[in-house]
Amino acid sequence: MSEHRIAVVPGDGTGPEVVAEALKVLDAAANRFGFAYEPTRFDLGGERYIRTGETLPGEVLDQLRDSDAILFGAIGHPDVQPGILEQDILLRMRRELDQFINLRPIKLHPGVKSPVSALTPEQVDMVVVRENSEGLYVDKGSFTAKDGPFEVAVQESVNTRFGVERCIRYSFDLAMTRPRKHVTLLGKTNVLKYAWDLWYRVFGLVAEDYPEVATSYAHIDAACLWMVEDPGRFDVVVTDNMFGDIITDLGAAIQGGLGIASGANVNPNGVSMFEPIGGTAPGFEGTGKINPLASIGSAGMMLRELGETAAADVVEAAVATVAGNLPSLRAGEMGMSTSEVGDHVVDLVAEAAEVSA
Ligand code: IPM
Ligand code: MN
Repeated sequence: MSEHRIAVVPGDGTGPEVVAEALKVLDAAANRFGFAYEPTRFDLGGERYIRTGETLPGEVLDQLRDSDAILFGAIGHPDVQPGILEQDILLRMRRELDQFINLRPIKLHPGVKSPVSALTPEQVDMVVVRENSEGLYVDKGSFTAKDGPFEVAVQESVNTRFGVERCIRYSFDLAMTRPRKHVTLLGKTNVLKYAWDLWYRVFGLVAEDYPEVATSYAHIDAACLWMVEDPGRFDVVVTDNMFGDIITDLGAAIQGGLGIASGANVNPNGVSMFEPIGGTAPGFEGTGKINPLASIGSAGMMLRELGETAAADVVEAAVATVAGNLPSLRAGEMGMSTSEVGDHVVDLVAEAAEVSA
């Protein structure tokens, strides 16, 4: 029996509540499918920072590096200046653990109401491959003449050939595993000429190695329009860190809301971190109203990455079924509590026959 060592970082806000539900589902999956896992909790986030001044101590980072996967809740605290916890915990973990892909599926499950009422589940089934370590997220830039009338703020976007190529290759490898085998590059070649010239050239070169994969390119602004009007044109999309951040919130909206939006920070050769994309949901902590399906779905993605494919299929299917039965996926509108939603998934997983992929 394989035993997976899972680092659990519940974090701030509603993070602990949704992670608790994901752990319940992991327990049920472990029982049903006969694998073992050992969760180790790490206290990281706003409370610890306020108490001790620490964000991500080196010894914690070493322990995270030594785990098989990380299950992450959310980070951000109302009493901490925005940017500190994000940069020093979440973005630092992504960088230090070289999780260079941020993988975010966008899927409208049957029975779920999208705010775009014309959309159908057939049209909304795509995955965003977001570059996760470079671009505008490198935290480089400068102020000149700060606070004066002639102040200039420069925010740099860094795009390396190595970083761009490994991200694009990942997107083609992923497309090969999907029935449509189609990759779209989302960029801004008409304005941001240096970065997107590099991306566009590398995309063309990598495509030559994947003759079975069809390709297209769209400007990011046009892609936002199509995400609402005609998302069926997208299968796998690959883009940089900033555009990927923005388009996946739009993607969350068309699939019914952040309540179902799962994600993974992937290092294909190392430790990956599984994280709902919604954040801390200020105002909902402790209310039992937050939707845990995004966190449970992220745990499902973790099972797939750990090689527990049958369990991952069942968790994914259970999330889809429960989502389709809720009146709304939005916090406070589910018609049941956070833990009741978790219980429904647990029941389906416990009863499940294996789903063949
Ligand atoms: C996300 C979040 C983060 C990001 C924030 C919290 C730093 O918005 O995971 O999408 O910008 O990557
Ligand atoms: Mn975001």
